[in-house]
Amino acid sequence: MYLTKVEERMLGGEFGEAMSVAMKILVKVGEALGASRLIEVSHVHISGVSYSNIGEPGLEYLEKLASTKPKFSAYTTVNPSCVDLSLSSKIVSLEDWEKQAIINGILESMGSRTSYTCTPYLLRRPFMLEHLAWGESSAVAMANSFYGAFTNREGGPLTIAAAIAGRTYMAGLHLMSERRAKYVVKTPPLNNEAEASLLGLYIGERYSEITQITGASEWSHSIVKEFLAASAASGSHALVPLDGVTPRGTYVVEEGVERTTIDRRELEYYYDNVSKALELGEETLVYIGCPHLSLSELRQLSIMFDGRRLKRGVHFLVTVPGTYRAFRDIDRSLKKAGVEVAIGTCPIVSKITVKPDVVLTNSGKALFYLSKLHKFNVSLASLVDIVKLVSEK
Ligand code: F3S
Repeated sequence: MYLTKVEERMLGGEFGEAMSVAMKILVKVGEALGASRLIEVSHVHISGVSYSNIGEPGLEYLEKLASTKPKFSAYTTVNPSCVDLSLSSKIVSLEDWEKQAIINGILESMGSRTSYTCTPYLLRRPFMLEHLAWGESSAVAMANSFYGAFTNREGGPLTIAAAIAGRTYMAGLHLMSERRAKYVVKTPPLNNEAEASLLGLYIGERYSEITQITGASEWSHSIVKEFLAASAASGSHALVPLDGVTPRGTYVVEEGVERTTIDRRELEYYYDNVSKALELGEETLVYIGCPHLSLSELRQLSIMFDGRRLKRGVHFLVTVPGTYRAFRDIDRSLKKAGVEVAIGTCPIVSKITVKPDVVLTNSGKALFYLSKLHKFNVSLASLVDIVKLVSEK
């Protein structure tokens, strides 16, 4: 791999041990993937920071790394942790708080923002054609498909190396030659975010290569967010070009590609396969905020709850970025209705204290992980329908 003079010095140890190790990781991975050089990145997003996920081995790795006193040289954000940062959640367990605090402290000492979110694009909007090194599947899909930035879907250790070096390897989705749609799919009009989630799960499951979607030009940011998170969960899609949304010039559609149409009946049939019917259980958990809610989405939710209260046996969990600690007014009004807003966390990377017989969500990604990994009975429905079912005046 070609390295600049500075990069050779970085690799050789002139900028410290941590930098040298980071460069070795990037060069090794890059060479394995056929990269001819490294490229500077303007934003790194580190995934895999929850103690529930990485456990003692992950913590030990970070402690060892911290002993070499590394500093991040790129703007760096991090994924959700396993505890509510306000330490007030009754649904997300606080059991691992001390371990998580050590992880957060290490990352912040290296220079990460106190983001703790899977929506780093809400904190710093990516530019078109900008190179990033992001490691959260839903965020990666948004960066490539909504903002027209270039990033691969990276693992946790590689994102840490990229943050230290301020670089990543020039391969995969950093190259235009790898951003070629092999299928074009026409989709039906969508009525809400739950339908977008369902469509995302379906596309992810059914297509294994880059697939351009037509019929998406009217989709809102929230709809795109749910669609892409779901397709990245069920099918590892890092780029789903959306005709009329994804900036032109950031992907190409190959000539003579297979073109298909998905109709509503197909989606209805798929819904019956992946989702339980929308109904209350003896104990019901509602989970909203996968990916994390934006401030305006949180405000809309609080408006929906105006004058309403949760029914008996319902726990309602909302997750937002770690930067939302200041928005106490919205939090207070939702709390009055019985809704819990947990900050900088999510139940998929945490332990939860409740044992629901039914989980309701508007997120396809949450449905995918809560039903497949955590074995809950999960129903997918729109936020409007869920709020109507679980609350009363
Ligand atoms: Fe974010 Fe957790 Fe969903 S990390 S995308 S809220 S699974």
